[in-house]
Amino acid sequence: MHQSILVTGASRGIGEATAVHLAHKGFRVYAAARQIDKLNELSALGSGRIHPIALDVTDPASIDNAIERINADGNTLYGLVNNAGTSIIGPFEDLSLDDWRDQFEVNLFGLVAMTRAVLPQMREAGRGRIINIGSISGRIAAAFQSPYAASKHAVEGLSDSLRREVMPHGIKVSVIRPVFINTDMGKQQQDRLEEYSSTGPYADQVRTFKAWHAKGHPSAPSPSIVAEAVHNALTADRPYSRYTVPQSKLGLLALRNFMPSGVIDRMYERVTGLDRFRKR
Ligand SMILES: NC(=O)c1ccc[n+]([C@@H]2O[C@H](COP(=O)([O-])OP(=O)(O)OC[C@H]3O[C@@H](n4cnc5c(N)ncnc54)[C@H](OP(=O)(O)O)[C@@H]3O)[C@@H](O)[C@H]2O)c1
Repeated sequence: MHQSILVTGASRGIGEATAVHLAHKGFRVYAAARQIDKLNELSALGSGRIHPIALDVTDPASIDNAIERINADGNTLYGLVNNAGTSIIGPFEDLSLDDWRDQFEVNLFGLVAMTRAVLPQMREAGRGRIINIGSISGRIAAAFQSPYAASKHAVEGLSDSLRREVMPHGIKVSVIRPVFINTDMGKQQQDRLEEYSSTGPYADQVRTFKAWHAKGHPSAPSPSIVAEAVHNALTADRPYSRYTVPQSKLGLLALRNFMPSGVIDRMYERVTGLDRFRKR
């Protein structure tokens, strides 16, 4: 029997690529998101192994329905790919507490709720994989990304704690850390930065950052490289706790780990063009 994997946020971008890749590799994939019409289109690409499920990760009833639906098929989940995510960015002073709550509702509490929903069945089965899609922003926080970076830092901490807790039950936890990937998220972030680029005390900085950011996503790798990392994390006997994608960016993380923050700040400012705002 094919192993069953639930991929959240599968209606586009990284989740869509992951659902299709895993289906082609022989998994039975439950592809979940709010836009069921997009998921229905996706199921045609999955060699009959993609099963669309309507899911809002912020809605407990929707989560219960999704899990019941999977179990009604007689399937126990082998893997959960917590990919659903949004990116709420902008100057810290301009973002409201509601913005922060919205960000954490999806990127953190949604992931927690999904994981809570599947853990008991994985523990009883004595096996399972939880793959959390984090971000480079979970280690290196750019300016104007405070809610997003905070949510992804939280995913890192949660994943370490959970991994050590569930390991004795045969469940393995990995974080995937994409850097820039060419998906709609780039456009969403550009739109949000645009909102803050004409007025307010940070407008000049936002415009400069936006110009640098605009080049990132369109020239970035396709989501299929993230899908391959997810597949590795699902199938390796001893999966890594973290996968940086693309691997060529591991050097960035090494810098973050070993260099003083002041040095990283200056490098970051130079790369983004924000150094011209530095007070000498
Ligand atoms: N693209 C990048 O450069 C990049 C870099 C680092 C990390 N990431 C992470 O990778 C993940 C996917 O990003 P992406 O670039 O593929 O973004 P995307 O193209 O915007 O796709 C986001 C997905 O999340 C789903 N989603 C959003 N809110 C949801 C909710 N409440 N319940 C269920 N699904 C929800 C969306 O589907 P519906 O709207 O249909 O619900 C969509 O399928 C995110 O966690 C993101 O933070 C992306």
